[in-house]
Order: sequence, then C-alpha cells, then structure tokens
Amino acid sequence: MGIKFLKRSIFQRLLGISATTKPGIDGCWNFADGKLTIDLAKALELKTPGGAIRFEGNNLPKRVLVVCGEDGEHRAFHNRCTHFGHRRLDPVPGTDTVQCCSVNKSTYDSGGNKIFGPTPRPITRYPVEKDQEKLIVSIS
Ligand code: FES
Repeated sequence: MGIKFLKRSIFQRLLGISATTKPGIDGCWNFADGKLTIDLAKALELKTPGGAIRFEGNNLPKRVLVVCGEDGEHRAFHNRCTHFGHRRLDPVPGTDTVQCCSVNKSTYDSGGNKIFGPTPRPITRYPVEKDQEKLIVSIS
C-alpha cells in the first residue's frame, strides 16, 4: 500500500501549519484529573470519518489530536511528531493514518507506528472511552 499525502502547500509545510483546527465550539472540552473530556454533541468535527480536532492550551498538559477513524471510532494521539521539528499532525482522510504537517511528512498508522518518513519513534496513542455523548481521553 502506498502512502497518501495530504495536499498542503510548500508554504504551509515549511511553516508547519496543520490542516486540523482547534474546536469550532471552544466550550466543547475540559481537562481535569488526567482526563480530557469532550462533548461530542458540540464537537461537530468529530462526527465524520476523517474529521479531527486539535486540543491544546488552557490547562491541558500536552497537545492532543483526536480523529474520527474510517470505522467511525475515535482515536487520540499526542499531537507531536517525534522527528526533531516536533510539528503537529493531521489525519489523511480515507487512510486511517496521521501525518506530520512539515515538509518531511512523517506518517503513522492508526496505532501510532511509523510507516513513512524520518521520524525515529512511534507517537503516543491515548486510551479513549465513550460514555454516551462524552469522549474521555486519558492523558498519561
Ligand atoms: S517534524 Fe515531523 S517529520 Fe520532521
């Protein structure tokens, strides 16, 4: 299987501008006691396979990327490429992979394992639980 690359301009890749945005409704999440809790009724970007949100700031200790996989299941990753630029990641729709937004395009499978690029290590995948309309991500 070939690697599919997200279509981004060289300008976006040089500056490390990720395609994935912060939540459209900022009040859709909170972080307490090591848990990132997301209200799926308000996190509209996570309703469609290939959709994603990046969570960062406030009291969240790490940047987190949450994606809706091709199977409709949600997955959460430390949003930090392990290559030395430590850029953010984006899902590549239709592939169940996530890809660094930099020029080197390191790419990881749905388990966080490297499948392309110069990155030396896997990215951390965080456990996710669903409780009705809440998605709970345990941040370690
Ligand atoms: S920072 Fe991700 S490939 Fe370099």
